[in-house]
Amino acid sequence: MSLILGFLAVALQVFGQSTTDLQPYCHPVSENFSNNPDYWLHATPVLRAHWNFDYAPLVRRQYTDYWFGWKKISYLGDSYTSTSFNISGEQPSPSSPLGNPSYPGSTSCDGPNYIDFLTTTYNESYIQAYNLGYGGATIDDSIVTSGFGATVQSFQDQVEHEFLHTYVNNTQVPWNASNSLFTVFFGVNDVTNSFAPFASHNDSVNYELVKAYESLIDENKLYAAGARNFLFMNVPPVDRSPGTLEMGSIDQSAEASFIGAFNFRLGALVYNLALRHADTTLFTFDTNFLFTNVLDDPSQFGETAGYQNTTNYCKAYEK
Ligand SMILES: *[C@@H]1O[C@H](CO)[C@@H](O)[C@H](O)[C@H]1NC(C)=O
Ligand SMILES: *[C@@H]1O[C@H](CO)[C@@H](O)[C@H](O)[C@H]1NC(C)=O
Ligand SMILES: *[C@@H]1O[C@H](CO)[C@@H](O)[C@H](O)[C@H]1NC(C)=O
Ligand SMILES: *[C@@H]1O[C@H](CO)[C@@H](O)[C@H](O)[C@H]1NC(C)=O
Ligand SMILES: *[C@@H]1O[C@H](CO)[C@@H](O)[C@H](O)[C@H]1NC(C)=O
Ligand SMILES: *[C@@H]1O[C@H](CO)[C@@H](O)[C@H](O)[C@H]1NC(C)=O
Ligand SMILES: *[C@@H]1O[C@H](CO)[C@@H](O)[C@H](O)[C@H]1NC(C)=O
Repeated sequence: MSLILGFLAVALQVFGQSTTDLQPYCHPVSENFSNNPDYWLHATPVLRAHWNFDYAPLVRRQYTDYWFGWKKISYLGDSYTSTSFNISGEQPSPSSPLGNPSYPGSTSCDGPNYIDFLTTTYNESYIQAYNLGYGGATIDDSIVTSGFGATVQSFQDQVEHEFLHTYVNNTQVPWNASNSLFTVFFGVNDVTNSFAPFASHNDSVNYELVKAYESLIDENKLYAAGARNFLFMNVPPVDRSPGTLEMGSIDQSAEASFIGAFNFRLGALVYNLALRHADTTLFTFDTNFLFTNVLDDPSQFGETAGYQNTTNYCKAYEK
């Protein structure tokens, strides 16, 4: 898929790698797994901040074969993703590929976010973007509640009440397995809301979260509706956000471990999905590793070279 490749090319150039090297950010997950059902979801997580990866020796990855021209992309996520698309409003069309509101929409970064760029800048064809992301969203409110009230559409709501309800069997939006990609970026609010400073943690909540996540992707939901191409994004290093930094270094490392546990389980979800469904094309994007690199040295990427301060709140984001 050209739009993400465009971004990759930048990363590869920066690191001076050839395109045949394994690259760390975004990779199709190709599979020849041993017969291994739910083991990894139960395995003890390795607590580390990114998912790059404990099952690596088991997974054959391919780096070039699967990029192809999706025409419709459904984005599911939280405030990192939302452009404040109203599903009852104007739908994506050639004159407005994101539908409503007008470009770039209302975003948490007060300007174009990754959805905007992927849809209109790094695309190599017209792409219809159905962005169901909702600020403050968690995976399932019965496990971790959004801190932003009951109107927030969780991942569960985005799948069940929005996507399945509106876009399945809808002749106006003739998506199918081969022309559509589903991107899923969840966990930020779940981890943030369930992480309690200075409390002891076990990751049973992460297990519950990831099982709920899996059930929305799998047999009864998106897969059942015909979705076959997925891109999963893990939780970035919220432990390096200004809010956590204010709490001090003990909390920072505890939160990093907590995020690592969630990301480990998300990796297991992808592994299991590939195992169960050989007809899926799965991609993972390691936002945690990318954000870590940006925070370490924003000057290494053209897109972030202008950042002045990576430890403090940005005024524009407070709106
Ligand atoms: C997958 O594994 C099976 C059994 O080990 C082997 O026969 C087959 O050739 C492998 N397929 C690929 C594509 O590597
Ligand atoms: C979404 O659009 C519908 C139809 O125009 C409108 O009734 C509703 O108020 C809108 N919702 C929001 C949150 O703006
Ligand atoms: C990318 O999308 C924009 C907005 O739909 C469109 O104007 C542009 O032509 C597209 N780029 C290519 C190469 O098709
Ligand atoms: C879509 O239509 C098919 C075939 O009629 C039906 O089995 C399925 O339940 C419908 N899905 C939804 C989400 O309405
Ligand atoms: C999917 O839809 C596209 C039109 O967007 C069509 O060309 C293609 O044949 C369809 N694929 C399948 C498997 O139905
Ligand atoms: C983990 O935490 C949950 C809820 O906080 C608790 O119910 C469970 O007993 C804990 N498990 C272990 C092994 O401590
Ligand atoms: C970022 O901003 C904070 C708060 O104003 C300040 O303490 C810190 O030194 C700044 N960092 C850099 C690298 O300028």
